[in-house]
Amino acid sequence: MRKKIVAGNWKMNKTLQEANTLASEVLAMVNDEVKGDVKVIFCTPFPYLQSVKTIVGNNNRISVAAQNCSEHESGAYTGETSAAMLKSMDIPYVILGHSERRQYFGEDGKLLAKKVDVALKNGLAPIFCCGEVLEIREKGTHEQLVKQQVEESLFHLSADDLKKVVVAYEPVWAIGTGKTATAQQAQEMHAVIRKHIAGKYGQPTADEITILYGGSVNAANAKELFANPDVDGGLVGGASLKSREFTEIVKSI
Ligand code: PGA
Repeated sequence: MRKKIVAGNWKMNKTLQEANTLASEVLAMVNDEVKGDVKVIFCTPFPYLQSVKTIVGNNNRISVAAQNCSEHESGAYTGETSAAMLKSMDIPYVILGHSERRQYFGEDGKLLAKKVDVALKNGLAPIFCCGEVLEIREKGTHEQLVKQQVEESLFHLSADDLKKVVVAYEPVWAIGTGKTATAQQAQEMHAVIRKHIAGKYGQPTADEITILYGGSVNAANAKELFANPDVDGGLVGGASLKSREFTEIVKSI
């Protein structure tokens, strides 16, 4: 059975005090209210990782993740954070290839393949994001594009390493726009991704990969999105900044 995951991508938001409050509130609500088998991940800004990790403690349902890491092992790369640093802090997950990184920081498939490698080498599970911009969706080439993104950055991996990766399908036109993909659009794309993985690695491996949906997930639409057979949870941006709303999303799985 593949893992169900609801991850909150806090992006570049919150002060340290606000981040601590958010983590404490969600932790308490999840402890009290969430019964099912779901993993909750707080993807915090780098400076708050340690503090949020301390708040979470050894809760086995909640983990902390970084939002990015360098493709380099170590060295003269001012301002960067390495996978080895994250490993030394016991951080289990790292988001890689978020569309904001692709769009504003020029990250492409080749670079992301290197980041995936360095993350895995350091025992971190990548939450690998893919997804098309509106123009591609309108042209009708979104399936091809997303398959290519997955292929470029993940298909050099062994099956054992691929199984450690969480994929997040996030149509760029749905991120932060309030415009969610319909449950049917999400299911279609998740099935396309799973089928593509099955074509290269076989169905049993593809069936083990958690594929999250991201893009304007909120407490009102989460249930319908998560009800799809190939949607194994969500990567939530804006709605993860509010403890009550995020907890409701976690409960929708
Ligand atoms: P959103 O962001 O939920 O605010 O659309 C999702 C994401 O970028 O991961």
